[in-house]
Amino acid sequence: MQTLISPSLLAADFTNLKTDIEMVNNSQADWFHLDIMDGVFVPNISYGLPIVEQIKKIAEKPLDVHLMIIDPDRYVEAFKKAGADILTVHYEACTHLHRTIQNIHSHGMKAGVSLNPHTPVSVLEEIITDIDLVLLMSVNPGFGGQSFIENTYAKVEKLVQLIKEKNASVTIEIDGGVNLETGKKLVEAGANALVAGSFVFRSDDPNQTISDLKNL
Ligand code: DX5
Ligand code: ZN
Repeated sequence: MQTLISPSLLAADFTNLKTDIEMVNNSQADWFHLDIMDGVFVPNISYGLPIVEQIKKIAEKPLDVHLMIIDPDRYVEAFKKAGADILTVHYEACTHLHRTIQNIHSHGMKAGVSLNPHTPVSVLEEIITDIDLVLLMSVNPGFGGQSFIENTYAKVEKLVQLIKEKNASVTIEIDGGVNLETGKKLVEAGANALVAGSFVFRSDDPNQTISDLKNL
């Protein structure tokens, strides 16, 4: 099975967003990765609902929305309305994670749970069969262009094991510092989806870079 590629628009040129969205539409990418930051859960603010709505109008692939915000339950409905297809929340930001997952599913979206680099995979033991995707952070969330944390490979292997033990059907997506080298090792470890921001949008030929990642 080929790896799913989700280019992160955080690294796109926002003065020419339409051009970058069309590039992704015409590429081998599978999803659009949208990073929503509130300046509280992470030390940065990105963009919000009005931008997601505009992106939805021209994006021809599912929106993979990564919420780096506290108490995300409050915004599940709003992100559905804005066009999210996959909604991922942080384990560290949810007091009642199971309820949040139910909320996401009740709005007809796929539900993902993201783990910060310090959070062990084992916290997902009781919820792994209820979710569609796990997003492992391979950098500390908040910024693009950071370097990859090597411990992520071991986390992917532990997650593969947990999924097997629980007989769950979950996409393993990795976010942060993904390039051809880290991407290859991640796929070998068992990842099925890769987010890439800087590596795609700062390259000379983003379309070709997406295809290189796709065909690792
Ligand atoms: C970081 C975001 C990432 C970011 C990845 O908080 O969740 O999606 O855009 O950027 P790169 O690929 O540049 O590390
Ligand atoms: Zn992200």
